[in-house]
Amino acid sequence: MPFLSTSKLITIERHIAEEGALHPKATGEFSHLLRDFTLALRILARDVRRSGLNDVLGVTEDVNVHGERVKRLDIHANEVIFRAMDHGGHLCVMASEEADGLIPIPPEYRTGKYVLVFDPLDGSSNIDVNVSIGTIFSIYKRVDPDLTTPGSLEDCLQPGWKQVAAGYAMYGSSTQLVYTSGNGVDVFTFDPTIGEFLLTFEKIKIPSRGKIYSVNSGNAYKWPQGMRDYVSHLLRPSDDGMRPYSLRYVGTMVADIHRTLHYGGIFMYPSDSSMSTGKLRLVYECNPMAFIIEQAGGKATDGHRRILDLTPTSLHQRVPCFMGSPDDVDECVRFLHAAEHQ
Ligand code: AHG
Ligand code: MN
Ligand code: MN
Repeated sequence: MPFLSTSKLITIERHIAEEGALHPKATGEFSHLLRDFTLALRILARDVRRSGLNDVLGVTEDVNVHGERVKRLDIHANEVIFRAMDHGGHLCVMASEEADGLIPIPPEYRTGKYVLVFDPLDGSSNIDVNVSIGTIFSIYKRVDPDLTTPGSLEDCLQPGWKQVAAGYAMYGSSTQLVYTSGNGVDVFTFDPTIGEFLLTFEKIKIPSRGKIYSVNSGNAYKWPQGMRDYVSHLLRPSDDGMRPYSLRYVGTMVADIHRTLHYGGIFMYPSDSSMSTGKLRLVYECNPMAFIIEQAGGKATDGHRRILDLTPTSLHQRVPCFMGSPDDVDECVRFLHAAEHQ
């Protein structure tokens, strides 16, 4: 039964080990780090699949650093990732959307040369209604090569172009892991019967233009003029049949980016009159997604600059984001700039 779009039967661990073998200086440490991380994803895939049966739905009493009510699954995912990653000896520090400050490696464990930043559970508002949610992550090399000292804020505030690897898991109708280490984007699908992520799409390429835009239109009354002009343009029928565009918005960035990667089009979370830098977080959301989108041939910008060129100034910094098919992103930027220069 030809159910895979690739002829090779290969697990994520094998894939990462093979990529590592291409680098003459590779020690295998990175493969081990990823192996630990995919254990956390396997556990989360299981727990999300059973949510409703196990006791992970609903909210806690806590409000996070972003002022949002924390869901129980947010905390659970954060803990699972921490417990999978704290003792491996590969990391010097971590940072998570669900933690206020840096997450240090406990003093009883060795520190290593990598840095992990993550959004443990993306799409919190969709958890309780069985709509796709995900986990987003990026890995950097530590700045200070002295492996005996703890990692620092500087390690977590590196510009996105320095990412060594990034990916997301989407807990959808199946669980998929979309991953890049700067050598294209590969998609792995979790087979729960054997407990493995198997390669199902190799070197995925985003279409140069799509016919779908993805944005929270409920905020349209607060948008800047350029955004209104751009979306009005997308909705105006054209003689060549390229417009009008369709609107799709899950409200889980992972799911909206995943669809954009496959079908093309544009995903946006712009600034508006009440959120001057939009909503999405540069370190945990925009940078890893920008790396993946670019590696698939797309573009990602804050409206003025390439997302991956921005140097974060704080862990939880937010930035406007426009990402997807290159022709769509270029067109969007033209509208944004035209309105700014009027
Ligand atoms: P998180 O659940 O990690 O807080 O992220 C939610 C984000 C992102 O997934 C999504 O694109 C966006 O919030 C949706 O925001 P709106 O509900 O404002 O559209
Ligand atoms: Mn998120
Ligand atoms: Mn989150």
